[in-house]
Amino acid sequence: MPLDLFSASDWDALLAAAWQAREHAHAPYSHFQVGAALRTHSGAIISGCNVENASYPMCTCAERTAVCAAVAKGMKPGELKALVVVTEADTFTPPCGACRQVLVEFADDLPILLANRSGHVLHHLRDLLPHSFTGRNFLPQE
Ligand code: THU
Repeated sequence: MPLDLFSASDWDALLAAAWQAREHAHAPYSHFQVGAALRTHSGAIISGCNVENASYPMCTCAERTAVCAAVAKGMKPGELKALVVVTEADTFTPPCGACRQVLVEFADDLPILLANRSGHVLHHLRDLLPHSFTGRNFLPQE
């Protein structure tokens, strides 16, 4: 099955990074371990996992830890090119609403591969977050 603009091996590298990151998830409250890996315009692969806290609202999703790590390595808006999210749940795990908003800050559109131990499905951020609010809604346009 063709998976968007990336070759199967590109997705395989992201999947491997996401599964590896999931091993480090700090999820003692939900016991729901999530791994994510993203690819930037330069080809860099950066991963993240969910990091929970005894103060529940402080929990951070895997997608956002990956985005924050990528920004710390220099990723700019428009440079986020692909994302993989993995869990061992029977149903695929899409990014939550908050993460969708964080993702759209860095990607005009984004192929998002959701995977579990049984398979995967490809989505696009434009479908998961239609009519999104971005800086274009209030910043002066060139
Ligand atoms: N979680 C993620 O890391 N990513 C998602 O896409 C959905 C939810 C985390 C947050 C929390 O640590 C746990 O999964 C249960 O909600």
